[in-house]
Amino acid sequence: MQISLEEQFQQKIDQEIKIEPKDWMPEKYRHTLIRQISQHAHSEVVGMLPEGNWITRAPSLKRKAILLAKVQDEAGHGLYLYSAAETLGISRDEMYEQLHSGRAKYSSIFNYPTLNWADIGAIGWLVDGAAIMNQVPLCRTSFGPYARAMVRVCKEESFHQRQGFECLWVLSKGTEEQKKMCQDAINRWWWPCLMMFGPKDDESPNTMQNMQWKIKRFTNDALRQKFVDMIAEQIKLLGMKLPDPDLKWNEATAHYDYGKINWDEFWQVVQGNGPCNKERLAARKNAWDEGAWVREAATAHAEKNQIKISSMLHPNDINLGS
Ligand SMILES: [Fe+2]
Ligand SMILES: [Fe+2]
Repeated sequence: MQISLEEQFQQKIDQEIKIEPKDWMPEKYRHTLIRQISQHAHSEVVGMLPEGNWITRAPSLKRKAILLAKVQDEAGHGLYLYSAAETLGISRDEMYEQLHSGRAKYSSIFNYPTLNWADIGAIGWLVDGAAIMNQVPLCRTSFGPYARAMVRVCKEESFHQRQGFECLWVLSKGTEEQKKMCQDAINRWWWPCLMMFGPKDDESPNTMQNMQWKIKRFTNDALRQKFVDMIAEQIKLLGMKLPDPDLKWNEATAHYDYGKINWDEFWQVVQGNGPCNKERLAARKNAWDEGAWVREAATAHAEKNQIKISSMLHPNDINLGS
């Protein structure tokens, strides 16, 4: 019996066989992945900006080295992901253009400012922690290049989360002023981190299709709950508090209940009206414009090398040399 391309495609997914770039795929699958992977790549790259703010102000050489390594990792994540998206038929220039024109989004969390050193710890522990929750299931996503990129990304993310927790751990055992800084950073990052999982399930219309295609393995609310359960326990070790009076262990569900998320704030930030949206986009555009000479020089160098290599390989040249 003949089955359609679409049915063959779904069968592969059901059997956990990865979809590779040259395989047939529905256009909607391709577009969904281009959007998701490129937005993920943009998030890694824009995510360097809030932390970059503290590289020159890190309190010790050790902290500076850790932060530099982490920020470099994020640049690397961006590069793996841009490469994965390119295998779906979009160019890197197009993706940059979408970011710079504001048509492509990146994670709303990076539109918040880093006001004190403890923010660097809170970003590692909470922001990278939320990213890991989202990203570990992506190691099993149905599109091969994305899944393989995520394996390495997740290993590095777990280092990011540990260094963030350790940074806050030290502050939480420090002076009164350091403890206050630590609590202040947690207070400001907690709610925006819960928003990182995206809208509630009943307002997330593509979830069912994406789960059927195994682009998504868990719903937004399920991942958010896992994150709350994890952090509500870890924070006890720091002796700090989460800024949510409704946070409470629920025996019946065996999960933590938590308070209402301010979705108005979320949509405001997504629509470009967060505290740092304009600054972040301007920094990216500026980096692109100022890097034009580097790209031109690299292209000219590559072309020159190409000419050299092809003339070296010319049979006449080889004969002449012998
Ligand atoms: Fe990352
Ligand atoms: Fe990270």
